[in-house]
Amino acid sequence: MLTGKTIVLRPLEREDVKLIHKWQNDEEVMRLARSEPDHAISMEALTTELDKSIKAEDQMTRRFGIEEKSSKKLIGWCSIRLNSWANRYTSAEIGLAIGERDRWKKGYGTEITSLLLKECFEQLNLHRVGWWTYGDHKASIALAKKMGFREEGRLRENSFFDNQFHDGVVMGLLRSEYEKSQH
Ligand SMILES: CC(C)(COP(=O)(O)OP(=O)(O)OC[C@H]1O[C@@H](n2cnc3c(N)ncnc32)[C@H](O)[C@@H]1OP(=O)(O)O)[C@@H](O)C(=O)NCCC(=O)NCCS
Repeated sequence: MLTGKTIVLRPLEREDVKLIHKWQNDEEVMRLARSEPDHAISMEALTTELDKSIKAEDQMTRRFGIEEKSSKKLIGWCSIRLNSWANRYTSAEIGLAIGERDRWKKGYGTEITSLLLKECFEQLNLHRVGWWTYGDHKASIALAKKMGFREEGRLRENSFFDNQFHDGVVMGLLRSEYEKSQH
């Protein structure tokens, strides 16, 4: 459990699947979260996917439910995906999605990201954290930059949705940069 001022990142439970199913079939959320507005997933397929987290079978991906402290409601999900290189765990990708749209732009994304970064650098002892998005995703890029991420590369026109190609943007934050930002 990662506890912030206004939100808690907690394990996902079986009863959360219904809400995540709603958000993962929401065109706007999935356009932003995965560059996939036409994403459609059945309850059964989602349950199978999340079962690995619920049963703690997937050691490489840590998924959390984002719970709003004031309402005790689940408002989204987030994850830390560890990368292994020669059996060493030096980096991870983080991702988050606030599924309840009326909770956007309230500072939650900032708090969630800082909890994920704290976990990556101060508990998992990682060296680099990565962040993937697409070129037109202003909110994601603004949030990543605010947290100290730098753009490391652009995959030109590597994804296609809404009848056009979009650049993929790879951002990264090194441990030394994170540590500087904490003082
Ligand atoms: C992207 C997302 C996580 C941002 O979370 P949030 O709670 O709205 O972000 P915050 O309120 O903490 O804002 C963080 C910064 O981003 C900026 N920002 C937020 N939304 C923005 C937007 N639509 N356009 C430009 N900047 C934006 C804020 O101004 C803030 O910067 P500031 O503090 O300097 O003003 C959230 O909108 C979301 O979950 N969207 C759906 C899924 C998704 O896109 N996931 C990310 C995939 S990479």
